[in-house]
Formats: sequence, structure tokens, C-alpha cells
Amino acid sequence: MQTGDIDWDQLFAAAMAARGHAHAPYSQFPVGAAVLTADGRVFAGCNVENRSFGLTLCAERGAVAAAVAAGAVSVTRPARAVLVVTATSPPAGPCGICREALQELGGGDLPVVCANLEGERQLLALRDLLPQPFVFPPPSG
Ligand code: THU
Repeated sequence: MQTGDIDWDQLFAAAMAARGHAHAPYSQFPVGAAVLTADGRVFAGCNVENRSFGLTLCAERGAVAAAVAAGAVSVTRPARAVLVVTATSPPAGPCGICREALQELGGGDLPVVCANLEGERQLLALRDLLPQPFVFPPPSG
């Protein structure tokens, strides 16, 4: 996992800005996320809740979707890094669904920083957050 060239402060600022727009009236738990693309662009997302709770979109998947929609992230051009920011200490990591979504478009080597408002930051490779991703189609034999 190579992280030396990543401007985490830039990703943090983008994630914080998106977090400020979170629609989280039910949980009162705003989340922001930012995705760095292979060509250096940054896309951000926030959680968008719904009165039908199961419809809630997490910040990470919102950010990934924005990057994909812009043509900046794909299977052949995977995400370069992700940062997620919450108000918890220690910083919260992406939920299981988001880990699978990041696996799809970032791969196991994807650097993920979990940050909080106090300046704590934890860096992990996605493979450490999701050691056994779903495999499709399943291996035969
Ligand atoms: N949430 C995220 O945005 N990302 C995660 O990885 C975990 C949870 C949101 C969903 C919901 O709006 C709130 O946090 C509380 O679960």
C-alpha cells in the first residue's frame, strides 16, 4: 500500500464539507467521505437517510457513486484512497456494505483513513477491513 503521495488533509477537508450537508435527522450521526481518484480528483459524499430507514445511503457509497458517475473511477481505474470522517473516538470505519462497495472499485490495497473531529486518523488497507470479500462468481470445483 503506497500512501506517500496522498494529501489526506485535502481529503479530510472535502469529507468535512460533505459531512456538513449530511441528511441524518434520524441518527443525528453525520458522516462525510472523500474518494481520491487515479487522476487526482476528489469526490465527496455524505450519508442521506430516509424515513424508511433501510433506504439510507452511507457517505462512502455516495462518494464512490459520484466518482463513478464522473467517469473518474472504474474497475480499470480503481479509487486511489478513501477517507471517512465521523464524530466518534476512536474514528469509525466503513460499514460492511461500504467495505464491499470499496472492494469492488478500489481493491484490497486501497488505503482507507478513518478520521474524527479531534484529529485522530487511523490508516488501514481495505484488505484489513475486509479480509474475505465476496467473490462472484464463486470458485468452481
Ligand atoms: N453511516 C455511513 O454513512 N457510513 C458508514 O460506513 C456507517 C454508517 C451512516 C448511516 C446512517 O445515516 C448513520 O451513519 C448511522 O448509522
